[in-house]
Amino acid sequence: NKVVLAYSGGLDTSIILKWLQVTYDCEVVTFTADLGQGEELEPARRKAEMLGIKDIFIEDLREEFVKDYVFPMFRANTVYEGMYLLGTSIARPLISKRQIEIAKEVGADAVCHGATGKGNDQVRFELGYYALNPDIKVIAPWREWDLHSRTALIKFAEEHQIPVPKDKRGESPFSVDANLLHTSSEGKALEDPWDAAEEYVYSRTDDPLTAPNEPEYIEVEFEKGDAVGINGVAMSPATLLEQLNEYGKKHGIGRLDLLENRFVGMKSRGIYETPGGTILLAAHRGIEQITLDRGAMHLKDEIMPKYAECIYNGFWFSPEREMMQALIDKSQEFVAGTVRLMLYKGAAHVVGRKSPYSLYSMEHVTFEEDSVYDQRDAEGFIKLNALRLQLLKRRGKVTEPP
Ligand code: ARG
Ligand code: SIN
Repeated sequence: NKVVLAYSGGLDTSIILKWLQVTYDCEVVTFTADLGQGEELEPARRKAEMLGIKDIFIEDLREEFVKDYVFPMFRANTVYEGMYLLGTSIARPLISKRQIEIAKEVGADAVCHGATGKGNDQVRFELGYYALNPDIKVIAPWREWDLHSRTALIKFAEEHQIPVPKDKRGESPFSVDANLLHTSSEGKALEDPWDAAEEYVYSRTDDPLTAPNEPEYIEVEFEKGDAVGINGVAMSPATLLEQLNEYGKKHGIGRLDLLENRFVGMKSRGIYETPGGTILLAAHRGIEQITLDRGAMHLKDEIMPKYAECIYNGFWFSPEREMMQALIDKSQEFVAGTVRLMLYKGAAHVVGRKSPYSLYSMEHVTFEEDSVYDQRDAEGFIKLNALRLQLLKRRGKVTEPP
């Protein structure tokens, strides 16, 4: 039998690869995805070949990632626990999906990932696997093996001729996960939630304190709720997010230090950098302000935390996520136009918005004389809304609460 391993090419997944070969005596197929983590993929191929792998899948999934996962999520202005833009959470379902597809292609009966038994990622990978192939066998080495210390891992690597880079000999200071949307760092050196993260932890945003003293203005164009261009230049989803990442990096935008609730029950502390995504969220809110009806906006805002939790907990391939997505997508029909933003020292401020589908009526809102709104109508509107409050207060007078 065969197993498809989600393989980064790093030391840990190389150890997993070897461990699968010796523990399960099975053929390992590796799958390495480019989600914009900014690492060369060819070394992963070479390492896999060196470890005797015949079937090696290396795929650039950046466009699919942004178009079919990141953008649909941003249509909802999704944030978990008020702040986290879900950069890791949203990448897992795509990896799961490709792994299951590859398993089918090569006739493998199992899949394997390198997430630990303490985190969210194991849940996300595996819920994805089972949702797409209920009969798949899942191997999670971190929950099975006894390589629980760095020393044990290094010893295993050396026994099996896996090269250990010098900088990987010791304990790494924290665990990092990166893709086009974000970089997360957690664990070890970051575990005390009272200690501020040091500057070296941040890898893809410049320090907002030393960011340019001049603000920079950009315009983002939207169609059906998705960003389609910057400053009048149309771009593919991944290219657009890459561009926003550059603006965000330069101005130190999108840093977050968060203590969050993991699905498995414990709290954890993470340092996140989501430069382009933070700009995109502000811009999307900006275009919705001028194009969305109040009822539509408030309804989608109400379901957003539920939708965020669904993605965080790994239920991307679930009926409730798809139902919420349908509602969110429906709301975006007229979410089109242009938003102007000011980028300055760690923040993205919306300073202008316009749309061919604008619901903003200057005529109605003006403090000057108008001919479309009769101020006398407001009297009855207020009176009927006040009625229940008046009845309550009158009762209060006769019978005070006990
Ligand atoms: N806490 C974040 C989340 O659950 C980030 C997880 C980071 N994953 C990692 N393998 N370091 O989405
Ligand atoms: C892990 O445990 O593999 C990373 C952290 C997480 O999944 O929450």
